[in-house]
Amino acid sequence: MAKKNDDFFVEKKPWSEVKDQLLGCYFKPYVAKILHTYKPLVYVDCFAGKGKFDDGNPGSPIIALDIIDECLATTTMNRAQISTFFIDLNYANELQGNLKNYPWATVISGKYEDNIEGILSNKHGSNVFLYIDPYGIKALQCSMFDGFANGQFNSIELLINMNSFGFIREACHALGATFSLDDPTVFEDLVEYDPTKMTASEKSIHDLNEIAGGDYWKAIIDDYKAGRIDGYQAEELFAEQYCQRLRNSFQYVLNMPLRIRRGQRPKYRMIHATNHPEGCLLMVDNICNRWEAWQNVQSGGQMSLFQEDPNNQIINEADIESKMVEHFSQCKSWTSLNESMSVFFMKYGPICKTKVIRDLLKKFEKDGRLLIARNPKTTDKGKPARFMEENSKKKVSLRWSR
Ligand SMILES: C[S@@+](CC[C@H](N)C(=O)[O-])C[C@H]1O[C@@H](n2cnc3c(N)ncnc32)[C@H](O)[C@@H]1O
Repeated sequence: MAKKNDDFFVEKKPWSEVKDQLLGCYFKPYVAKILHTYKPLVYVDCFAGKGKFDDGNPGSPIIALDIIDECLATTTMNRAQISTFFIDLNYANELQGNLKNYPWATVISGKYEDNIEGILSNKHGSNVFLYIDPYGIKALQCSMFDGFANGQFNSIELLINMNSFGFIREACHALGATFSLDDPTVFEDLVEYDPTKMTASEKSIHDLNEIAGGDYWKAIIDDYKAGRIDGYQAEELFAEQYCQRLRNSFQYVLNMPLRIRRGQRPKYRMIHATNHPEGCLLMVDNICNRWEAWQNVQSGGQMSLFQEDPNNQIINEADIESKMVEHFSQCKSWTSLNESMSVFFMKYGPICKTKVIRDLLKKFEKDGRLLIARNPKTTDKGKPARFMEENSKKKVSLRWSR
C-alpha cells in the first residue's frame, strides 16, 4: 500500500503552492475557452488529497472547483456541462467532507489506476482534463497515457507532476548503481516523495519500463554509472526523453522544471501534454507568467537585470529572433499560425511569451520575409486586418517568402 505521508497536508509548502498556481492559472482560461467548444468538460483530479490543507489553505480540488464555479457564474454560455471527479486512495472521507459545498463533485475512494478507465469509458466526445499529482512515480504508467490519447475525446490534456529525480534514483537501484547528488536538499524538501523502492531485479526493470514507456532510460543510467554525465544531467536527459516519448501520443508536450529559489536545481517537473495547439500556447503563456512572478519572489521583489527562461537560461530578443528565422523559414507552404508557433515551442521550450513571437512575426510580415493570409481579410470598418491570433472567428496562415 502507498505510504500515507500524513505530514504532507499539515501545512501547505512552497512546492505545493507553486504546483497549484501552475494548475489554477492555467485552468481558468482553459475552462473559459473549452466551454466554447459546446462539448462537455470532464475534470479528473487523479491524486486529489484532502481537498484542503490542515492550515486552511486550499488543495488542488478546491482550487479547481472554485474556478469552475467562477467560470459558470460569468459565462454567457447556457447549458455548460461540467463533471468533476476526485480520486484518492487514503483521504476520500476527509475529501468528501471538505467538498461539501460542491455537491456536484464526485469523490472516489481508491486508486487512480483502477478507476480512471471506468470514469472515462462513457465520456466519448468530451473535453477531458486530468491533473496527475502523485507522491511518487509508481502509478504513472505511460501506456495508460497513450490510451487516453486514442481519439475518443474531443480533446484531452494532462498536467503531470513527474518526480524525475525519484525516477533516476530508482533506476540506479534497478541497475545496481547508487545515485548521489552534491545538493542533498533535492530529496530533503520533497516530503511528499514516496520512495518507490526498486531493486536490482528484472521486475524493477520491467516496472520502470512501464513508467518511462520504454527502456531509453537504461542508456542514461549507464552513462551516469560510467561517470560520463552527473546526476543533474541524468535527470535532465531523462525528462527530455520522457517528453519525447509522450510525443508519440500527444503532439505538444511542455516541460517546466520547478525550483523555489533562483539558481537552485529543479526538484521536479510539471509536464503538460495535449493534442491541441491552443492548449499548448495557453500553457506557454502560463509558464512564462508564473516564471516571471516567481522570479520576482526569488529575487526579493527586485527585477533581474537579465531575462531568464524557466531553465535559468539568459534569453534575449536577438536570440529568439534567430531561432524564429530558423524555424519559420521552414514554412514553405501555408501553415496555421497556432500550429507553427506550438511546434516552435516544442523545439525550443517555453522560452518567451507568445506575444513576443506574435510581435516578431508582425515585423517579419512588414519587412516582407513572411506572407500572411487572414480570414477575415478586413476589419468591420473595411480596413485590412492586422490581427496575429487565431480563434473560432479568426484564422491566420503563414508562409515564408524568401
Ligand atoms: C501529492 S498528494 C496530492 C495533493 C493534491 N494535488 C493537493 O494539491 O492538495 C498525493 C495524493 O495521492 C494519494 N494517493 C496515493 N496513491 C494513490 C493512488 N494509487 N491513486 C490515487 N490516490 C493515491 C495520496 O493519498 C495523496 O493524498
